[in-house]
Amino acid sequence: MSDSHRFPDSFLWGASTSAYQIEGSPLADGAGPSIWQRFAHSPGRTVNGDTGDIACDHYNRWRGDVALMKMLGLQAYRFSISWSRVLPEGTGKVNERGLDFYDNLVDALLAENITPNATLFHWDLPAALDDRGGWLNRDIAEWFGEYASVVYARLGDRVPMWATLNEPWVVTDGGYLHGALAPGHRNLYEAPIASHNLLRAHGRGVQAFRAEARVGQIGLVVNLEPKDPATDSDADRDAAQRGDAYMNRQYLDPVFFGKYPDEMRDIFGDAWPDFPADDFKLIGQKLDFLGINYYTRGVVRDDPLALPVRNAYVRQTEHAYTETGWEVHPPSLTRTLTWVTERYGPMPLYITENGAAIYDAPHTIEGAVHDPLRVWYFREHIKAVHDAIAQGADVRGYFAWSLLDNYEWSLGYSKRFGIVHVNYETQERTPKASALYYREVIRSNGASLDP
Ligand code: BGC
Repeated sequence: MSDSHRFPDSFLWGASTSAYQIEGSPLADGAGPSIWQRFAHSPGRTVNGDTGDIACDHYNRWRGDVALMKMLGLQAYRFSISWSRVLPEGTGKVNERGLDFYDNLVDALLAENITPNATLFHWDLPAALDDRGGWLNRDIAEWFGEYASVVYARLGDRVPMWATLNEPWVVTDGGYLHGALAPGHRNLYEAPIASHNLLRAHGRGVQAFRAEARVGQIGLVVNLEPKDPATDSDADRDAAQRGDAYMNRQYLDPVFFGKYPDEMRDIFGDAWPDFPADDFKLIGQKLDFLGINYYTRGVVRDDPLALPVRNAYVRQTEHAYTETGWEVHPPSLTRTLTWVTERYGPMPLYITENGAAIYDAPHTIEGAVHDPLRVWYFREHIKAVHDAIAQGADVRGYFAWSLLDNYEWSLGYSKRFGIVHVNYETQERTPKASALYYREVIRSNGASLDP
């Protein structure tokens, strides 16, 4: 077997999940409600009215799930911490039992030689903080700093990889602009404020880390989606540029360049405020790495009615699409990694999420669910990461989304992203063919991707 796809020796292979999507028992042991608890329990907000009340019952089954990770040969596991388990009111009184859950999980991972990679915020804001304005209140940077410090104090001696936020773009676009995600607002004027406060909170979280954590590295996790114009027309090219500014550069330029892209004012008009210059010092804290979640690219055309970005996706008839309607386009993963390297300078990069919602045929053979399209998706995207390394991107690791089929936010349980199938009636876990394929990629450090 040729080893042309062998990865660097220190390359880290893992899988990702998030708290509300897998844990279940959201109010157990003194936890406070999150905005997802409220949103999912509000009529008409989620497919089938699905909630995260049970999800994968990971809160009770975490020991078995760690054994599953071990069986799959994972070297790292990315999970998120529920803010309202740790601080039921968002600030103030600490709920030690909430911290115990993550403390035990971290110890179990380390005992199996699996590197814990903890994200502090993956969308489940404490409801008590939403009552105080949530991401629209400037004080949230301090609230987040307080929460981060409490977590670092308990886990900072053992967790080597941290991220402040998962995907600030989705929090704002889904939560404050289009309303499909919690807290479900649809307000052009709120969106820039929410984004800015997310970035300020991120900066505050990094500051607290430098002051207190004893080991490890910290980064930010963003979702990046390259935008291509549907035609060569100036209008479509401008539409793609706006899309790129809105989705990609809006969250990276402030961190690395200390300012927002010029296009933001064109996109938001008078909803785009002037932000205090000092804020960019806080936002621009030095990072140890950047986490990139990559799922798809966007081919777009000019569409003056699609406010505020004024572009619309154009379906590519020659390409496959996943069940969430996302074009499968592995070369754009390579391009994303080299673009970040060129635009923001060389830095350690991790693919913190990559995966696909694909229908899994219901039959199982020898204990495996057959998911050939997901196997194909992973093979081509992991090769695309290898290509990016060959082109000079400093990619240090790859995390598949997701370890388990789980609660896909407002889409409920209708979409399955897992490499492990979850039977939601019995909670039985069955590794899919993609999990076994990934295990071999890990074991061979990429060599099995050939030819
Ligand atoms: C999020 C995950 C989500 C996945 C698939 C990412 O945007 O971080 O929570 O399940 O995409 O939609």
